Amino acid sequence: MCGIVGYTGTKPAVPILVSGLKRLEYRGYDSAGLAVETDGGILVEKEKGKVSELVNLLNGHDENAPIHASTTGIAHTRWATHGTPTQENAHPHASKKIALVHNGIIENYKSLKTKLIGEGYIFLSQTDTEVLAHLVDSFYDGDLLQAVTTALKNVEGTYGIACMAQDEPGVLIVARRGSPIVLGVGENETIVASDASAIIKHTRQAIYLDDNDIAKICGGEIDIRTLDSGTVSREASEIDWSPDAAEKGGYEHYMLKEIYEQPDAIRNTIRGRMNTELGTAMLGGLNLSPREVVDIQRLVIVGCGTSLNAGIVGEFATEDFAGLAAEVEQAAEFRYRNPIINSRDLVLAISQSGETADTLAAVREATQKGALVAGLVNVVGSTIARETGRGVYLHAGPEISVASTKAFTCQVATLLMVALKFARSRRMSVEQGRQFVKEIDSLPDLVNQVLAKDKEIAAVAERYVQYEKMFFIGRGYLYPVAKEGALKLKEISYIHAEAYHAAELKHGPIALLEKAMPVVALALEGPGKEKTIGNIKECSARDARVLGIITEGDEEAKSEVDDYIEIPKCRLHAAVVPATVALQLFAYHVARLRGCPIDQPRNLAKSVTVE
Ligand code: F6R
Repeated sequence: MCGIVGYTGTKPAVPILVSGLKRLEYRGYDSAGLAVETDGGILVEKEKGKVSELVNLLNGHDENAPIHASTTGIAHTRWATHGTPTQENAHPHASKKIALVHNGIIENYKSLKTKLIGEGYIFLSQTDTEVLAHLVDSFYDGDLLQAVTTALKNVEGTYGIACMAQDEPGVLIVARRGSPIVLGVGENETIVASDASAIIKHTRQAIYLDDNDIAKICGGEIDIRTLDSGTVSREASEIDWSPDAAEKGGYEHYMLKEIYEQPDAIRNTIRGRMNTELGTAMLGGLNLSPREVVDIQRLVIVGCGTSLNAGIVGEFATEDFAGLAAEVEQAAEFRYRNPIINSRDLVLAISQSGETADTLAAVREATQKGALVAGLVNVVGSTIARETGRGVYLHAGPEISVASTKAFTCQVATLLMVALKFARSRRMSVEQGRQFVKEIDSLPDLVNQVLAKDKEIAAVAERYVQYEKMFFIGRGYLYPVAKEGALKLKEISYIHAEAYHAAELKHGPIALLEKAMPVVALALEGPGKEKTIGNIKECSARDARVLGIITEGDEEAKSEVDDYIEIPKCRLHAAVVPATVALQLFAYHVARLRGCPIDQPRNLAKSVTVE
C-alpha cells in the first residue's frame, strides 16, 4: 500500500521517479507526487488522482526548467489511510527544508501533532505523514541521518520512508519498519522503491532493508545502519525475473495477462519439486527432516483474502490425503484471539506479496508461541519470506494486477504438494502418490483447456452484466472456489457477490433469492454434486438465473442450469484450479463489459501493509 520511489545519481531524476511510480501504481492510486532537489531548493509537485495526473502537471514545466535537471528526488503514489485523497494530503510532505514520503501508519501521530503545534508548526494536511516531516525538521541541525534517526525513535507504528533535505545535495535517507524498502544498486546511482518492479529496469542488484534499518544514500554510496547501532552489512541479491515480466505484453490489462500466464506460472511452481518415482513432493525450502515431517501433529494455515481462500483448499487436501489435522485461519484473527499453538504445529503463512501486515503479525505470534513457521510466498526477499526463514516460493513471477489470479492457482498447486508430502509420510501409498503427482502435473494443461474457452466465457458474462448482486455456491473443494469467484467479481466489477457453502443457502441466504439475484453454482462431478444439483433446483424454484460450473459433457447438470461453463474432468482437488480460472475470466469479462478500471479497482491496493 502506497508506493515509494527515490533516486540519487547522475541522471535526470524525474523520468526515473515517474516510471517507478507507474510500476508501483497498483499499490495505491489516490494521489501522486514528487520532490526534487534544484538549485533554488526542493521543488514539490503533487496531484490528486493517478500518476497520469501528476504527469500532466509536470508537463507544465518547460523543458529547460530546473526540475528536469535535478538528479535527486523522491516520489509517492498514495493509498489513503489518514485523510481523504486530496492534493493537500498527497505526498511528499515538506517541513521547511525537508521533504518526505511515507508508506505505513504513524500510530502516535495525534500526541506528536499536539506537541509540534505547541512548537509552532503549522499543518496543511490531515495526514500522519506530515507529522513525521515536521518531527524530522524539529530535530534537524544539518545532519539528516541523525534527525531521521531521532524522529523514528519517537514514532510508534509502521513506516517505509524516503527523505531529503535542501542543504544536503544528493543525499536520501530511507528507513523501514513494517513497510518494505528495496535499494536498487546501480553504477554511481541508487534507486529506492517499495518493491523490485520499480527498479528492475535500471538494475537487477537489490538490497532489501530489514525492519529498523536506516540508510544514508548518495549516488552509489550506501551506508546502512540500524536505529540503535552503527553500520550493518546487507547483502545485495539478484532479481531473478526480467523487466518484460512486469509489462502488459500486449494484453489490455495486467489481470488478463496474469490469467493467461497461469499455465507457465504453475509449471514454474512445480518444476523440480515432484518425484514421480517415489510419488512425493520435494519441498527443500521447508527444511524439515522426514522425522520432523512425521512429528508434526497439526497444520495451521494463515492468510488473508485470496491467499486465505487458497488456504482452505490446503486444509481440505491435508486432512483428506494425509490424515493430518489442519485448520485455516484469517491471519488478523489468529493474531488477536490468542490461539493454542505448540511446538508440533506447523504454521504455514500464505502471502503473494510477503508483506501483508496481518499475515506478518500472525507469523510473529506463531513464532513467539514456539511453532514451526513456514512461508508460502511469491515475492522473493519479502518480509514474510525472510522472517519465516523456511518455506516454499511460488515462482509465479510478478503479480501486478490488484486482483490476484496466478498467485491463487500457484498457491493451490503448492498446497497440494504440501498435502502430498505429508500424505506420503503418513498413509498414502506410493501408487496413490504417483497418481497425485500426475494430477498436479496436469494442472497447466487443465488451465489451458479453460483458457481456450475464453470467448465462450465472455459470451456467458454478457448475460450477467446487468445484475447488481450475485450468489456463488459450492461445497467441499468447490466452496473455496465459490469464495474466490465471488471475491474476484466483487472487487473488479463492484457487483455485490457473496459466496455460501451450498448447504448453507437454506439456513438464511435463500431469503434473498429472486429474479434479480443470479447464482453461480459450482456443480462439478464428484462427491457432493447431487446435493448441489438439489440446491440449484431450490434456486431455480425462486426464479434465480443459474450459471453452472460443470464437468465437460455432464448432460444432467446442463439440464438444470440456465448457462454453463464446462471444466475438464478431473478429481475435485485438482478441479479447483481450472474452475477458479473460469471464474477469473467470468469476473474479468463482466467487469470489462461494465467499463470498470480492472487493474485499479476503487478503494483497493495491492500489498496491504496496514492492519
Ligand atoms: C484479492 C487480493 C487480496 C489479497 C490479500 C492478501 O484479489 O489480491 O485479497 O489476496 O490482500 O495478499 P497477500 O497474498 O499478498 O498476503
